[in-house]
Amino acid sequence: MKIPPSRKIAHLSLDSPFLLAPMAGFTDFAFRRICRRLGAGLVFTEMASVEGLRRHAAKTLHYLESGEEERPVAAHFYGGDPAAFAEAAAVIESLGRFDLIDINCGCPVPKITRRGAGAALIREPGKIETIVKAVRTASRLPVTVKTRPGTVPAHPRIGEILRAVEDGGAAALIIHGRFARDRHQGEADWETIGEVKEAAAIPVIGNGGIETASGALSALRRYRVDGVMIGRAAIGNPWIFTEAKALLEGTPFTPPSPEERYRVIAEHLRNLYRSKREEARIRGRDQSLAGLASCREFYGHLVNYLAATPGLGELRRKIAHTENPETLLRDIAALLEL
Ligand SMILES: Cc1cc2nc3c(=O)[nH]c(=O)nc-3n(C[C@H](O)[C@H](O)[C@H](O)COP(=O)(O)O)c2cc1C
Repeated sequence: MKIPPSRKIAHLSLDSPFLLAPMAGFTDFAFRRICRRLGAGLVFTEMASVEGLRRHAAKTLHYLESGEEERPVAAHFYGGDPAAFAEAAAVIESLGRFDLIDINCGCPVPKITRRGAGAALIREPGKIETIVKAVRTASRLPVTVKTRPGTVPAHPRIGEILRAVEDGGAAALIIHGRFARDRHQGEADWETIGEVKEAAAIPVIGNGGIETASGALSALRRYRVDGVMIGRAAIGNPWIFTEAKALLEGTPFTPPSPEERYRVIAEHLRNLYRSKREEARIRGRDQSLAGLASCREFYGHLVNYLAATPGLGELRRKIAHTENPETLLRDIAALLEL
C-alpha cells in the first residue's frame, strides 16, 4: 500500500520531519534538549539495554534521564530477548516521560551482536516481529524499529524486515541506509530507502550520510520519506535542524553568531556537568570527578562546535586535563573573542 509522506508517527504529530539520530556517547539529555529547541522534530536517547532496565541498573536509568522540554522523545533500546523487551517497555511507560519506544536492530558492535541484539536481529526478521509484538502488548507507547538494509549487500533483508515490522504492528520503520558490515562508513543507499517507502504502509524515516540542511531537505523531497534522521552532522551543529526547517518552510535562517554559539555551548556543558554530578551521586561515586568527566565527554562536541575557529588546537590539548567546566568556558569565550 502506498501512503503519502506524513508528519505523524501513530498519534504523535511532529513539528518537523528532521529527527536527531540516537548516538551513544552524544545524545544525552543535555544535547537532546538543545536539538529539540533548535528544531529537531523528535529525539532519541542513547542506546540503553533492556537487561539493564530489567535489573534497574543505575547506569541504564541514567541513560534514560529526560525531561518535558525535549518531548517528544523516544527511548532507544537494544536487546535480544522479547520477554526482557516487554518488561522494559512496561517500565518505560510507567516513567511517563517517553513518547515512543525504539528498538535497535542495526548496531554492528560485536559486544551487542554477540548477545543476539542490534544488527544480529537483521538475520531474524521473525524475532523482530516477536519483539515488536511483545513491546506492544506490554505498553501503549508506539513502537519504532531502527535498522539497516541488511548485514551485507549480497543479502538485502529490508523487504522481510518491513513485513515483520508491519505485521508486528510497529508505528514506523527507520532505515540507516548502510549495511551493517559498513558500520558508519561509505555511502548510504537512499535508493533502497526510497523503494521501501514506496512499498510501506507505515511511515519510513531515512538516515545516513546527511551532511547539510539542504542535503536533508533534498533527501526528504527526493525519496518522499516521512522524515530524515540526522546523526553526526548535528554534533557541534544543532542549528542544522533550524536551518533545515527554515528551508522547508521557506523562511530565512541566520547562522549562529559567536555569542549564540557560546550560549549553546555553555548551556550544553553546564547541563552535562549537572548530569554527571547526578550520575555520580546515584552510583555512589565521587562527585568531585564530575568536572573532569564532563569536560572529557564534551570534547567530541566541542571540537565540532568550534571546528571553524582558529586556535582550537591549543584548547584541544587542554581539555583532557580541565577539571572545571567554568575554566573551559572561559577559554572558549576567549577563543571566540567574546
Ligand atoms: C558515535 C555514534 C554512536 C551511535 N550510536 C548509535 C546507537 O546507540 N543506536 C543506533 O541505532 N545508532 C547509533 N549510531 C548510528 C546513528 O544513529 C546513525 O544511524 C548513523 O550515524 C548514520 O547517520 P549519519 O550518517 O547522519 O551520522 C551511532 C553513530 C555514531 C557516529
